[in-house]
Amino acid sequence: MALDFKPIDGLYEGLVAIIPAMFANATPVVARGRRPIDGGLRFLDGRRLLGDGKTWEGLIAGLAAGVTVALLLAIALDNILVAYVGTLTSIGAMAGDITASFIKRRLGIERGAPAPLLDQLNFYIGAIAVLLIAGYTITPTMFITLAVISGLAHITANILAYKLKLKNVPW
Ligand code: CTP
Ligand code: MG
Repeated sequence: MALDFKPIDGLYEGLVAIIPAMFANATPVVARGRRPIDGGLRFLDGRRLLGDGKTWEGLIAGLAAGVTVALLLAIALDNILVAYVGTLTSIGAMAGDITASFIKRRLGIERGAPAPLLDQLNFYIGAIAVLLIAGYTITPTMFITLAVISGLAHITANILAYKLKLKNVPW
């Protein structure tokens, strides 16, 4: 099977690309970070830039998890491109999550309060955005398919984290 990611047009290829991002996205909640990325800074609207839910520890742990999974996948599939693509989507996942918090704060949504779709898909949108910036392409069908899978994976992971008492809310 051709894993060239140009374009991402198959489910296998799409999953290989996005799985590291899923791990990157799910890891920060167990990192129990204490150092907010925004350092407590407030934006022009008087609200926090990002809020206490986005920490350096979470960011670093998420990136480390995503890159590790990307490397393991690359070794398993004997394809170095897999490590590169997975690293890109992991960076994108973290960027998307941070961007979503910035947007939520600007909309006046408190840290931890739900923002349907944005909460579930921020990491996916970020991952695909970084892939596109790096010159990769994805077919519309695969974009939608992976969005649905990513959304469901996010929901499942969060319910699990809630049941394990890692999170106070199931979203
Ligand atoms: N987390 C972190 N650092 C990150 C991302 C997440 O420490 N970069 C941790 C925080 O403890 C956060 C939890 O993972 O509360 C869940 O993440 P998320 O749902 O993205 O954050 P929220 O608390 O819901 O904050 P926001 O409203 O800004 O999304
Ligand atoms: Mg949240």
